[in-house]
Amino acid sequence: MSDKYILTVDAGTKSIRGIVFNHQGEIIAREIKDLPAITPQPGWVEQDPVLLFDTVQTVIADALIGAHIEADQIEALAIANQRETTIIWDKTTGQPVYNAIGWRSTQSKAIVTKLAQTADRQLIRQKTGLRLDPIFSGSKIRFILDHIPDGQQRAEQGELLFGTVNTWLAWQLSDGEIFTTDYTNASRTLLFNINTLQWDEELLRLFNIPLQMLPKAVANDQIVGTTSSHQVLAQGIPIAAMIGSQQAALFGQTAFDLGMVKATYGTGGFIVMNAGTTPSLSMNNLLTSVGYSFKGVTNYVLEGGILTAGDAVDWFVDQLHFLDSFQDAEVAAKTATSADELYFVPAFNGLAAPYWDPDVRGAFLGLTRGSGRDDLVKAAIQSIAYQTEDILTTMAQDTNLPLAQIRVDGGASKSDYLLQFAADITHIPVQRSQSQETTALGAAFIAGLNTGYYQDFAQLRQLNTGGQVFTPTTDAQTRSRLISGWHQAIGAAETFKN
Ligand code: G3P
Repeated sequence: MSDKYILTVDAGTKSIRGIVFNHQGEIIAREIKDLPAITPQPGWVEQDPVLLFDTVQTVIADALIGAHIEADQIEALAIANQRETTIIWDKTTGQPVYNAIGWRSTQSKAIVTKLAQTADRQLIRQKTGLRLDPIFSGSKIRFILDHIPDGQQRAEQGELLFGTVNTWLAWQLSDGEIFTTDYTNASRTLLFNINTLQWDEELLRLFNIPLQMLPKAVANDQIVGTTSSHQVLAQGIPIAAMIGSQQAALFGQTAFDLGMVKATYGTGGFIVMNAGTTPSLSMNNLLTSVGYSFKGVTNYVLEGGILTAGDAVDWFVDQLHFLDSFQDAEVAAKTATSADELYFVPAFNGLAAPYWDPDVRGAFLGLTRGSGRDDLVKAAIQSIAYQTEDILTTMAQDTNLPLAQIRVDGGASKSDYLLQFAADITHIPVQRSQSQETTALGAAFIAGLNTGYYQDFAQLRQLNTGGQVFTPTTDAQTRSRLISGWHQAIGAAETFKN
């Protein structure tokens, strides 16, 4: 009998990945295709749902070729996805009625602002673990229904379906048989009660969204259905996992214990803590969401987002043309010689947790005549670590848990300079993920658990041996001086708004 594999589709914001894993959790093949963003107006970020699905089909086909395997060697398909991004389509034709509205898009801001005047924000927070914010799907659904002909009426008549990217892909891959989401994705919509693990009628009323357009929400221990014979895999392959990308990364890092933390450094950054089996709320503006749910036990996460992480470095590459690549930034940071304390507040789109200030803008603070390119780049990399420190401090305050280690992954985690500085500033050891595809691996682990390909959580822990560890080296006084300078820089940046 030929070997079997798990295939993960990791449908991220910037790219779609098709990754084939074996029994050891090793990558056998990896195909990546970029997914363009459409920006019809400043602050609006959309994507073409049809192109998104086409790209998924391409990476699946390419991954099979890359792995030199046939579709019948795929034990199960797993889906990890950018969360919150909202797609509405016609139930009969399968055609989207509007572009996908991306999670970063602010186009539904006016809806949120209006709701905020009357809504009981504390109740929303207690039910959803979230803030009333345009990131989450609720106001994006409302926006689409308000901007297509007869949107509300069509939704009420059951003609329209809503899904985040996981739901859209499973629906397409099954030719409309699977209309399902999982708790992790549902918990990012502002419509899902994380205490009862159900869509919430009161929240649906608030946004005036009919229940019948929402998918069935299930735990992560479910095989949600099989692929249709008409689609790319053509074999009735079980779709055995769907999970939001950040929760998938937590799972891929095998951060299964209370208080374990992972940080994914991509364009933005997501710091996520396993907060155990009670959905407790942050006192410090962090979000509470479902982390994963198996056999009737739901683990929750506390999450803090960094809007600009690796993108602070990309800015030097593609906007300023000061650097050719991210690798150059590493060299620049290591060779920066100035002893001046220079800070970069990377608030290109405002600041998220714990500040939640959409109007603050980016700033360099502490420039002198001697400041050079390398110093600016170093400050940009350091800003990722400072933002991590801010979030970890609030997590520690919220939970009173000792933070023993940060497990990091994502593109920017390739930077030794960043990880060492993060260890120094947070005073917590930082471990780089061994896998280059932690998000996809997390989804594969879940699909494998659901099909018996992987045995249990204990086996997954053994498979994740972890990569290089960066140990804190800075003395307490230096650390406190640097952090206080950072907070001064944030304070100064916040005085300028536009
Ligand atoms: O909440 C948005 C997040 O899921 C983005 O994920 O996979 O594009 O980094 P990703």
